[in-house]
Amino acid sequence: MAKNVVLIGFMGTGKSSIGIRLAQKLKRKFVDMDREIEMVCDMSVAEIFKRYGEVRFRSEERLMAAKLGREQDLIISTGGGAVLVRENMTALQENGILICLEASPADIFARVNRKKGTRPLLRNNISVADIERLLQEREPFYAQADVRINTSGKDFEQIIREILQVLQDKK
Ligand code: S3P
Repeated sequence: MAKNVVLIGFMGTGKSSIGIRLAQKLKRKFVDMDREIEMVCDMSVAEIFKRYGEVRFRSEERLMAAKLGREQDLIISTGGGAVLVRENMTALQENGILICLEASPADIFARVNRKKGTRPLLRNNISVADIERLLQEREPFYAQADVRINTSGKDFEQIIREILQVLQDKK
């Protein structure tokens, strides 16, 4: 049995895209917290926010973090705000190594604009400056990761290689 690998980080830093590839590489099960919450609620994240508000989403997220924190051998991608709740971090850290993916505000801006409307916390006309501000607000939370990896200017293969190296070093 191995510890979970938990990918945290701001929206648009590639947590899900990297997670799925890392899981394939390591032949482990991949769990995307937001997709699991959508399955449990039978609604998209955007719909949960719209109908019941952020409080309901955060509550589902807390339950999901507690559940996944009790499991092992998983590659988990979290939603960008999962780190805001101490309880989630404690649960996910219990059996997991927390890797924070980072990207430049300009890259995040480009990525989130490609998927407009799916992220209820971002207005459609969000600016790079807004992203910079949000990143700064969340910095103390992302700083709790065991390791931080910058993804800007790197392809998936390179990022996966860096993660594998981290996992090797942590053994
Ligand atoms: C959120 C990030 C989203 C999703 C929800 C809230 C956040 O996930 O969980 O919209 O607070 O940063 P991604 O990081 O996958 O976009």
